[in-house]
Amino acid sequence: MANVTEVLGLAVDEVTDVLNAAALAPSVHNTQPWRFRLARDRIELHADPTRRLPATDPEDRELRLSCGAALFNLRLALRDHGIRPLVTLMPGAEAPGALATVRRGGHGDLDEETRQLIRAIPTRRSNRKPFRDVPVPVEHRHALVRAAERERSWLHVVTDRDERARLQGLVARAQRIQAGTPEVRAELTDWTGERAGDGIPSKSAGVRPAPQDEWALRDFQAAERKPGKDYESDPLVVVLCSFYNGPLAELQAGQALQRVLLTAATLGLSASFMSQAIEVRPVRDELRRALGGSLEPQTILRIGFGSPVPSSPRRAVREFLLEPIAAA
Ligand SMILES: Cc1cc2nc3c(=O)[nH]c(=O)nc-3n(C[C@H](O)[C@H](O)[C@H](O)COP(=O)(O)O)c2cc1C
Repeated sequence: MANVTEVLGLAVDEVTDVLNAAALAPSVHNTQPWRFRLARDRIELHADPTRRLPATDPEDRELRLSCGAALFNLRLALRDHGIRPLVTLMPGAEAPGALATVRRGGHGDLDEETRQLIRAIPTRRSNRKPFRDVPVPVEHRHALVRAAERERSWLHVVTDRDERARLQGLVARAQRIQAGTPEVRAELTDWTGERAGDGIPSKSAGVRPAPQDEWALRDFQAAERKPGKDYESDPLVVVLCSFYNGPLAELQAGQALQRVLLTAATLGLSASFMSQAIEVRPVRDELRRALGGSLEPQTILRIGFGSPVPSSPRRAVREFLLEPIAAA
């Protein structure tokens, strides 16, 4: 465990704030698979290989999406401290093993949109509960699409009824395949329940899936649902895509994911994930073909107007800080 040091001209307290903000990002099973290293002139983002999910996420794709989301929060938090972040993805030899480095790119003032995104960092959370039966206005949809574009990614909005039915089928199929795979089930069990600082506690589990559900949400062993408590009939469903394949695109998509989720939060919208159809390789391939073959599906979100839900736990900064680099 390392101590926080001054970096990028920020005091220790400010660096701690920035890293805490990064850690509020969503991550698959709340594994928080990131580590940060502080050097005099940069912050490095690294993956934490001890927090991989080899069965659920064998290629570390969702691990990198999660790290990309943390990177987006880090960028915002630096802007909140007047720093314009200069990000290099997959920097190679200048920071061996790092997924990204962030340097000081000068001073930058905040615009109102960025201010709102920053304010949404601590209030955004995955909402697995039923939403209100209120449609998402079309201008909100456009704002979400623009948010993904700003981060060089693509948000495909599922509006066509046939496409919707097909996607429901793919999610349900992937859910069945994962439910029948002991290693995937074991990872879900490991990360579900009351753990110290990570995982998905019962208060965040949503409601127990039921056979009548149109969308198969992941089963985090929530309490039985009350009779008559069903999901909204028509959530906004979107597929976040990258334009190409590989680690760099995944880090970019992770940043886009977080910009989309924070934008949703600023609009009063809640979201939850339905990643199963992307995690199961043959189902993902089928989804890619259904999307036309040139986009790489990265995650599926259900979005709507939800009721408040509690936050999930996070680890303390010292637990995800690597030993500092003495001289840069
Ligand atoms: C790449 C990725 C995939 C995820 N997949 C799912 C999923 O399939 N089902 C789900 O309920 N939550 C999913 N989540 C949400 C995480 O479980 C959630 O972010 C984490 O528990 C932290 O909670 P918070 O989002 O409320 O901060 C995913 C998150 C990420 C980043």
